[in-house]
Amino acid sequence: MARVLLGVSGGIAAYKALETARLAVKAGHAVRVIQTDASVRFVGTASFQAITGAPVLLSELEPDPARGAYPGEAVPDRAPISHLALVERADVYLIAPASANTLAKLAHGLADNLLTTAALAAECPVVVAPAMNGRMYEHPATQANLRLLADRDVMVIPPGEGDLASHGEHGVGRMPEPSELLAACEAVLESGASPRPLSGLRVLVTAGGTREPIDSVRYIGNRSSGRMGVALAREAARRGADVTLIAANVALATPPVVRVIEVRSAAELGDACEREFPGCDVLLMAAAVADFRPAAPVAHKLKKDVGPVPTIELEPTDDVLSALAAARRPGQVLVGFAAEHGEDALEHARAKRRRKGLDAVVVNDISRSDIGFDVSENEVTVVTAAGERRVPRTSKSRVAATVLDVVQGLRAAGAQRADSKEAADGAVGATAGRGTRV
Ligand code: CTP
Repeated sequence: MARVLLGVSGGIAAYKALETARLAVKAGHAVRVIQTDASVRFVGTASFQAITGAPVLLSELEPDPARGAYPGEAVPDRAPISHLALVERADVYLIAPASANTLAKLAHGLADNLLTTAALAAECPVVVAPAMNGRMYEHPATQANLRLLADRDVMVIPPGEGDLASHGEHGVGRMPEPSELLAACEAVLESGASPRPLSGLRVLVTAGGTREPIDSVRYIGNRSSGRMGVALAREAARRGADVTLIAANVALATPPVVRVIEVRSAAELGDACEREFPGCDVLLMAAAVADFRPAAPVAHKLKKDVGPVPTIELEPTDDVLSALAAARRPGQVLVGFAAEHGEDALEHARAKRRRKGLDAVVVNDISRSDIGFDVSENEVTVVTAAGERRVPRTSKSRVAATVLDVVQGLRAAGAQRADSKEAADGAVGATAGRGTRV
């Protein structure tokens, strides 16, 4: 059981905060709520009070009838001197929904209401769940604020993509479901203040699809949008990694804390990978890289009425991933992606993993139109030497989470192998030493 302080700012997603409070109470946590004035216009204090069994606070000027106690605790005889007793005693401070305005205040240290004042004084982990209109979320100001907060180790639960409150609008900005918010808080609590298992790790992700020029305006490309790679970059950053994204023609918003290198062709992607790979610990090669390119791209625009119909001669591109795998240093984890057709997909993926020298291959069946290319969902199997993990149809962000779980498992297994080798070497050394002495 933990003391969960829930800060609710103004936004339609405030109704989800109510359900979050209910789930947290049901899970055995003691929950106190601070609301902003604006949030009361969406959900009244009486609802939170009924669910948590404790008074809700709005302002630093009002006394707390529970004197800083969480449900289940005895109310102290005296009122605390500070209005910050609630946050001082919290195990985690979840701010959900965090509106664009509240995020801006948190990022810049403003303390003009109890919610933001408590955030400034928080010594416990702070988790924020932004929720707003997609254009507000993607505005550079909001993205810069999120970057500032993430840099300060505030855990940001990225909003999902879907229908937004404004009628007919679709985009990024939807607050995750209450069960996910609670799971994130519990993960923070379990990990003893480290919700960032990849902290200190450098993760290199490739995303999108390369374009191989035919002439100065035309190219041979593919249908990859970059959604899977961007989801991987976002999830790796959320887990605390230092993430570089090599983006081949990606038209999506990229997470603010991620360093982005834009490339167009397979050759440019290859060059960028060659530069970045030696410094990374994990490579997630989600980009769809062309296997062939026009052998002699024309520098100008081909005219249709000059001469015979042109034929395009192709030549193979370099296999970037195989070359990187051949140059890997011990400890690096390499994950490839495979788009395969139909029944033999898994068999091909297993062979591809071995042939390319990879730790894992994430395979999806491209014979289906409802998953994979340019849609927000996927269904994959992650193939490793130790076995296979099937991820039934789900959002690409959940697929990304599973891929990173597998990466964490591979790294842990690698570390264990290194430890036992060291122990075995030590034992051999000790035996040899004894032998010499005898
Ligand atoms: N890849 C690469 N360089 C290439 C082609 C692919 O690095 N020139 C990487 C992709 O980023 C992906 C993996 O290799 O991680 C895919 O392997 P590949 O054998 O190209 O797969 P497909 O194109 O799906 O397979 P196939 O040609 O067997 O249909």
